[in-house]
Amino acid sequence: MTQRTCLSIILAAGEGTRMKSGQAKVLHQIAGLPMVAHVARAAESAGADAVALVVGHGGDAVRKAAEAFAPKAAVFVQAERLGTAHAVLAARDAIAKGRDDILVMFGDTPLVEADSLALARAKLAEGAAVVVIGFRPPNPAGYGRLVETAGKLVAIREDKDCTDEERKIGFCNAGLMAISGAHALKLLEQVGNANAKGEFYLTDIVEIADKAGLTVVAIEASFESVLGINNRAELAEAEAIWQKRRRRQAMVDGATLIAPETVYFSHDTEIGADVLVEPNVWFGVGVKIADGATVHAFSHLEGASVGPRAEIGPFARLRPGAEIHEKAKVGNFCEVKKATIEKGAKVNHLTYIGDARVGAGANIGAGTITCNYDGYSKFFTDIGEGAFIGSNSSLVAPIVIGAGAYVASGSVITDQVPEDSLAFGRARQKTLPGKGKELRERRASAKK
Ligand code: UD1
Ligand code: MG
Repeated sequence: MTQRTCLSIILAAGEGTRMKSGQAKVLHQIAGLPMVAHVARAAESAGADAVALVVGHGGDAVRKAAEAFAPKAAVFVQAERLGTAHAVLAARDAIAKGRDDILVMFGDTPLVEADSLALARAKLAEGAAVVVIGFRPPNPAGYGRLVETAGKLVAIREDKDCTDEERKIGFCNAGLMAISGAHALKLLEQVGNANAKGEFYLTDIVEIADKAGLTVVAIEASFESVLGINNRAELAEAEAIWQKRRRRQAMVDGATLIAPETVYFSHDTEIGADVLVEPNVWFGVGVKIADGATVHAFSHLEGASVGPRAEIGPFARLRPGAEIHEKAKVGNFCEVKKATIEKGAKVNHLTYIGDARVGAGANIGAGTITCNYDGYSKFFTDIGEGAFIGSNSSLVAPIVIGAGAYVASGSVITDQVPEDSLAFGRARQKTLPGKGKELRERRASAKK
């Protein structure tokens, strides 16, 4: 088969008032990615090579966001919201460029799967002019119904325009459609607005195409995959569905999740095989976990990479720029930011490592802090291979601690510590025999 070209038109002109938000509805995120970007990705996975984004009045934030998730998208403004067909026609110039396939998608239907879109495109390739993606919701009220005669789709009737008989139909319109590029403009231009809402319904093209003798077919998608988001409760529902899919994928790909329902992924989390993830772990955006690593319970990772067989947590926080190399360990109540923990190094207890390198095999004692910030700028701490930092040390950056050096516990290190040297940065202990007892007696008699 020769490669068919495909334009996806993503409708995002809705105001989303039910989100009760200062932010455009389609920019609310699922797994750390705006809903509309999920839609663009699904289109891309289904082979769409061009994107037209239809935004509403004041859609500048959406336009701006699109620069990140669909930099090549053409953005069109639908200034007046006169219905879904009217919205699609806002992208008339993109349609007129003449693509083989057109996928119409909704920016607030983020869980759509590439499989359904690809199937719809396959039907176009077989000669259909319009392919409707249908679904069977538990409660069809509010959705357009797919009206079939002798097993053939002849119309979509919007809920408000349905007869009582039609309202009983359980097969509904998900809203997403594939239209043959050769027929699209002609079909769309025939849509009128003589209906209950006085809107130009995209759904009317089904009847128009059928009457013109063109082939119209319906395919079915799962309820979950075409869930439309109108409020934050539905947003949370969509997040839950997304997370469930992703957890399953992680396990299928060879990671062990002991309590999968407590592990949260981001849209771009990369997780290898034989990774063990204990309960209650959060993967924020930009996390990569290599094969064989372990992430213990209650860890929070974001913008971090974890090398093969490294161990994180329990209760660890990896912030952006944390790079944990092979077999290194970041243990309980440790925070690592913009720092490399090289092979086999250990940062095991109650420590903050920021703007730093911890050389291979180094050991960082409990309670060690890199003092990386003076209130104005950030400074670097370089800890050499095999160095040993005693517990409760403050390393005042910028500072270099050489390979194999030893820092005594409780030190405040402000000067460079050369390789293999031993540094004390604390007051020497003074012990006065018997003075403890004497002090106690003096205090006690003073109190009488
Ligand atoms: C639409 C379908 C209905 C389907 C339902 C599935 C039509 C006429 N109806 O109804 O058959 O069952 O979705 O959820 O298509 N939009 C614009 N500009 C407009 C109007 C809408 O961009 O002028 C966008 C909205 O932002 C939204 C999408 O199109 O993303 C659907 O619009 P909406 O008003 O939610 O349509 P429904 O009445 O839900
Ligand atoms: Mg809707």
